[in-house]
Amino acid sequence: SIGPVTELDIVNKVIAPDGVARDTVLAGGTFPGPLITGKKGDNFRINVVDKLVNQTMLTATTIHWHGMFQHTTNWADGPAFVTQCPITTGHDFLYNFRVPDQTGTYWYHSHLALQYCDGLRGPLVIYDPHDPQAHLYDIDDESTVITLADWYHTPAPLLPPAAVSDSTLINGLGRWPGNPTADLAVIEVEHGKRYGTASSPFIPAGDLDFSSSYRFRLVSTSCDPNYNFTIDGHTMTIIEADGQNTQPHQVDGLQIFAAQRYSFVLNANQPVNNYWIRANPNRANTTGFANGINSAILRYKGAPVQEPTTNQTRIVNFLKETDLHPLTDPRAPGLPFKGGVDYALNLNLTFNGTEFFINDAPFVPPTVPVLLQILNGTLDAHDLLPPGSVYNLPPYSTIELSIPGGVIGGPHPFHLHGHSFSVVRSAGSTEYNYANPVKRDTVSIGLGGDNVTVRFVTDNPGPWFLHCHIDFHLQAGLAIVFAEDTKDTKLVNPVPEDWKQLCPTFDASMHTE
Ligand code: C2O
Repeated sequence: SIGPVTELDIVNKVIAPDGVARDTVLAGGTFPGPLITGKKGDNFRINVVDKLVNQTMLTATTIHWHGMFQHTTNWADGPAFVTQCPITTGHDFLYNFRVPDQTGTYWYHSHLALQYCDGLRGPLVIYDPHDPQAHLYDIDDESTVITLADWYHTPAPLLPPAAVSDSTLINGLGRWPGNPTADLAVIEVEHGKRYGTASSPFIPAGDLDFSSSYRFRLVSTSCDPNYNFTIDGHTMTIIEADGQNTQPHQVDGLQIFAAQRYSFVLNANQPVNNYWIRANPNRANTTGFANGINSAILRYKGAPVQEPTTNQTRIVNFLKETDLHPLTDPRAPGLPFKGGVDYALNLNLTFNGTEFFINDAPFVPPTVPVLLQILNGTLDAHDLLPPGSVYNLPPYSTIELSIPGGVIGGPHPFHLHGHSFSVVRSAGSTEYNYANPVKRDTVSIGLGGDNVTVRFVTDNPGPWFLHCHIDFHLQAGLAIVFAEDTKDTKLVNPVPEDWKQLCPTFDASMHTE
């Protein structure tokens, strides 16, 4: 892993993570990109160096630090043409931001067109030296970070609409039917004698062995599918969702949507053996688990080096989002009834066969980033581009956002930049919970009949993207921008000199190509 102050080269490389060689765009030359770590309070200074040459997959780039609030540093958020112009080949750009009050599991990815589907995605973890749940686990290191990714044999710009992935990569390895012996990721644990689980803390004193309970960090870096995730023979006690601590909640399986994260405690208390880790995609060329497809291996130290022969555990407790509750400050902002907020906004999603629309507007990236438009003095959403896609939000107000499911291609995972939100109504539920709803930054809006509702407080000036995290849908317009407190531009100032240079450099590169 690499620390919070680093150079990150963005390069083209041919790799064959599932046995099929293809051109890619990679952070640091690996897939997934290197684990970036820091601790609460750190100042991240990541200098991104664009060394891209392959025109097919775009030679420009940007990086978004998914889940970082970027308070006072909106310019470092990353989405192309929302908060910056892309970095061009031969240039670098310093992302410089602090994490005063954030901990947990995050990731980073290209936020230009479909570029992260071509490989530019990696995990990011912020450790908490005073984790209030540290007593629940013994080991929390990079060996137990699990990244899930959909993988395509064709560069994203050449994929047909509605493409499906060829394989599922877990920690950068996976299989497809054409190569049923490709290497799989192995996650090693050590058997301990610790009995009981987080929810039954009465451990017989004689059997304590503190090398046996692990904090696993699960990150979906998906461009599209969601995954049903299970580990044969083991339960998972969830303690974090999208960087927010949750009350411990034990499950046998969970569905994780594109861009979501979970931490869970796994007790290595089963017989020394190999166990299948399974991540079954909802959409892919191959679903299910034949020949280790969509799988990785949990291997106890001392177990033979061979593939598991375990069967999938019976799933009794599958995660329901409504069972997750914040560890602290559980109340949703606003008053405890629908509409009990300063501003309630309903989004209407439609699809015309090629483009998505939110309240009748498709998001088409403007040529001048929204942040630059604001800094240039355009403060009113009416005048901000793209037309119909920018919404003003006043400062220090509680916003309620309702998004009906049902538009084609769902369930759509919606992500809001710069914030986490309280999910007062989850997909699959008709109940509203204002007392202790889960907080997160990416939520599935479900299917027809759902009306997922979230609340947040506008405490972070700047333009923030809200979009479907199925990258193909973002590319097809399923996005809007919240221009939060545009009058307070001093809070996104001073933008660094080299930020201002990105647009002229980008313009010049467009004209020489
Ligand atoms: Cu991972 Cu705009 O998001």
